[in-house]
Amino acid sequence: MMNSNKIRKKFLEFFKKRGHKIVPSSSLIPDDPSVLLTTAGMQQFKPYYIGKADAMKDFGCLNVASVQKSFRTSDIGEVGDESHLTFFEMLGNFSFGGYFKKEAIQYGYEFFKEIGLPIEYVTVFGGDAEIPADEKSEKIWRELGVTDIRRKGREDNFWGPTGSEGPCGPTTEIYANGIEIWNIVFNEYYCKPDKIFVPLEKPGVDTGMGLERLAMVLQKKKNIFETDLFSEISKKLPSGMDERIRRIFLDHIRASVFLISDGVQPSNKGAGFVLRRLLRRVMVHEYLIHKNAKQYSGNNVDVLTFGLRDYYFAAAEAAVDFYKNFYQELNWKTIHAVVDEEVQRFSRVVKDALRKMAKSPARLDARESFLLDQSYGLSFEVQKDIDPVRMQNVTREKFDEEFKKHQEISRAGIEKKFGGHGLLLDTGELKAADEEELKKVTRLHTATHLLNAALRKVLQDQNIRQDGSDITAERTRFDFTFPRKLTPEEIKKVEDTVNEAVAKNMDVVREEMPYADAVKSGALHFFREKYPEQVSVYTVRDGKTGEVFSKELCGGPHVLCTSEIGRVKIIKEESSSAGVRRIRAALDR
Ligand code: SER
Repeated sequence: MMNSNKIRKKFLEFFKKRGHKIVPSSSLIPDDPSVLLTTAGMQQFKPYYIGKADAMKDFGCLNVASVQKSFRTSDIGEVGDESHLTFFEMLGNFSFGGYFKKEAIQYGYEFFKEIGLPIEYVTVFGGDAEIPADEKSEKIWRELGVTDIRRKGREDNFWGPTGSEGPCGPTTEIYANGIEIWNIVFNEYYCKPDKIFVPLEKPGVDTGMGLERLAMVLQKKKNIFETDLFSEISKKLPSGMDERIRRIFLDHIRASVFLISDGVQPSNKGAGFVLRRLLRRVMVHEYLIHKNAKQYSGNNVDVLTFGLRDYYFAAAEAAVDFYKNFYQELNWKTIHAVVDEEVQRFSRVVKDALRKMAKSPARLDARESFLLDQSYGLSFEVQKDIDPVRMQNVTREKFDEEFKKHQEISRAGIEKKFGGHGLLLDTGELKAADEEELKKVTRLHTATHLLNAALRKVLQDQNIRQDGSDITAERTRFDFTFPRKLTPEEIKKVEDTVNEAVAKNMDVVREEMPYADAVKSGALHFFREKYPEQVSVYTVRDGKTGEVFSKELCGGPHVLCTSEIGRVKIIKEESSSAGVRRIRAALDR
């Protein structure tokens, strides 16, 4: 039986013998800002297809092959079935003007022969109004003796671009045992952001074959999780686990190990947010497994913390052991430290989160589900996993729509108030002319909440009340009731307190609740403002200790975590009117 190590080796040797330079996998974090994570082998080679980099200079060769770490966030929801994964390895050969259709198809055909896998059928691009059919590929296959050639449309047999623009073109795919094994892309065009296709000067080849799928077919397994790529990790999971959840553990644990080893840290943004979702999904299930296991009742083990990570750690260590020969970057110590910290953070909220979910309406709508995610870190997938009935009316699309709405909330509010005044954002308190300024005022806005909280802490006066604030891209101006001038020491202390909260990278969490509940919860509010019945409350809290630094009624927008703010500097403290002081503060960058 061909194990996965042997498959990788065979693939690379095959192409080395045929004049390819072997290139190591690039990081899961791409250089390309238009994509979040590396989704395919061609990602690191994008510049070579479009003549922005010189393959001869970098590789001494126009043809390369690799085994690439890849990650597809779009598949998170499907994980649990027979064949979907977030992280996977992609075998690929690439040419940047060295060879084209004839050789690429010939190599595919020969490699299948070499591994003893019969080609069941192949597909080619059948053409549409914009792009002609790929008759050339069809002819090449026919000449090789392949008779089952199926024509497909744009959906199936056209690749790319990754991100908003890039190389793309028709594909031909090889099928065996009923599944697609190898995707051979002919990069003939460059797709511009406005979706216009421009022929590339030198057409290129980009192929991709998922290692897990190939292993499944060659090892004659029923699904990818039974291949040797998962067997060692699988041994560390408890027997009797629900099969779907077991697959989610296998995928998410392995994926998180690779993400962390490429430098991703859990956070509320970008790749960090993807990692957080993977980790917390496993943690919720671990917690439930332990909670339900009788063996823990009555003993002194800290079920909450312990029950978030023991299977995770055992399986993650097995993944590192299994993969470290091929991927030297895997580092158990770092993985352990990063996950341990996230366990600490999540253990503060997981119980509340589950309780909140259990007490929510019998059928959630998309908005309620989205708020559970925003306020308690229960992702859409977790909610679906643990309470499918309650979630039966919420689809991924509806959930994503809520997310979009949420991002647009502040802007919509402004346009209503100040439409036509040439400002992108004007809430009365915040003003921004463009995206750049919007980012700055958002950071300054959260900084203002920190400042408000810091003043009360440092001056030890709970009677301090906000008397107005005004935020531009340059500075925040904050007025508050206080009877005297602040001393230089006090000003310094307030500034330090704000910057400590920034350095701790606290979470900024938004919740919605009735106005009366918000006031009862002790959230600060501005007495001059008229609030609606349902309000949103922004809490800045230390994810590690659970400490609440600031809590205010507010319409936003705010950053997601305080590290986004950067250093805050108090520029001036002065009198505004009788009994009211005014502070101006700015960002360091
Ligand atoms: N880029 C194509 C894919 O990912 C071929 O490598 O399927």
